[in-house]
Amino acid sequence: MQFSHTFFSGNRQRLIDVLPDTLVVIPAHKQMQYSADMAYPFRQDSNFWYLSGLNASDCMLVINTKTTEETILLPETSDYHEAWDGAFDKQEAADASGIRDYAPMKKLESIIKQAKATGLGIGYLEPLSEIAEPYGFYTNPSRRLLAELLNKLHCEPKDIRLDIARLCQIKQAEEVAVIRRAIEITGESLAEIKQNLKNYKREKVIERDLTAGFYSRGADGHAYEPIIASGQHAATIHYNRNDSNLSNDSLLLLDVGALYEGYAADISRTWAYGSPTARMQEVAEVVLKLQDIAFGMLGPGVKIRDYQAEMEVVAKKAAAKIGIKIDEYPHGFSHFLGLDVHDAGDYAAPLVAGSVLTVEPGLYLQDEGIGVRFEDNILITENGYENLSANIPRTL
Ligand code: GLY
Ligand code: MN
Ligand code: MN
Repeated sequence: MQFSHTFFSGNRQRLIDVLPDTLVVIPAHKQMQYSADMAYPFRQDSNFWYLSGLNASDCMLVINTKTTEETILLPETSDYHEAWDGAFDKQEAADASGIRDYAPMKKLESIIKQAKATGLGIGYLEPLSEIAEPYGFYTNPSRRLLAELLNKLHCEPKDIRLDIARLCQIKQAEEVAVIRRAIEITGESLAEIKQNLKNYKREKVIERDLTAGFYSRGADGHAYEPIIASGQHAATIHYNRNDSNLSNDSLLLLDVGALYEGYAADISRTWAYGSPTARMQEVAEVVLKLQDIAFGMLGPGVKIRDYQAEMEVVAKKAAAKIGIKIDEYPHGFSHFLGLDVHDAGDYAAPLVAGSVLTVEPGLYLQDEGIGVRFEDNILITENGYENLSANIPRTL
């Protein structure tokens, strides 16, 4: 375990410092149905984890920033659940989080009413809509249910997502250390595959060996669904079926990242499989040049939105030179990286040292069946940036 209770109590203190006179209420995620009586593997809400280090579902973190009282509210449980899932261990939770106070969830209403009566504001995470657009998946209901309760109690809560995002965006030393390790594991596992690439015939078998490489190096699997896209599949940006044979004499795009101690790597490489055509190589070279231009633009003080707009112009021009017309560039050139692969942060503010970002230009030619992306992970420093994935070769 890399993160001690002082990491989480430090995060709570930083939130207390920026939110005076507030009752902060942050729900843990709820479990989601996978099949008849099976749940998906549980994934905690990143905000809840960042402030508590706890991986239990259905709890609520309550912080009174005036008195600095911190409480975890626990759901009512049954003998059935305790027999199947084990009981919540308060001592273990206290050791992990540094929070000593545990109370039943039924106290939530009275805590909120009392906070209101004493003039405290309520800080919450504004819920996403039930279906997250444009992705089309259902969101975890935990925030929505809390918002309904706050509405019923006539609260006018303040959305504190950005306050927490600004904290999460500045990575602390132990966070940078685990991200470095996630990247190192990803790089070593990719190198193993590349060494033996000509012997692979199927995308799925590459996925299997990457997964094994991640686990055997101490990772907890993938930070997101891996993309192993051969030939024309690479032109579909989030292709992740990974169920085809490798196309001879083509390009192979891998977008993969290990999950280590809860933190993500997010690396893309495009490799030659056999002898790709001159056109494929030309497209790859343009993407590599775009990545070099992107690196050169990043550092403290840069606003991601400005950088994105500039890079779109540069990419369109570079693509036009090799006969590719881009009407609308299809994705961001960079996003914050951390607990979530698309991590929280303030995209409108100038970058500051301690932010970890991806740098990921790509060109996707549906008509020609070519897709190329290179993606590295950088740490913004006082004077510029450090490429955390510089050891992963960018060669085809
Ligand atoms: N792997 C997802 C992304 O690159 O943003
Ligand atoms: Mn990626
Ligand atoms: Mn990315």
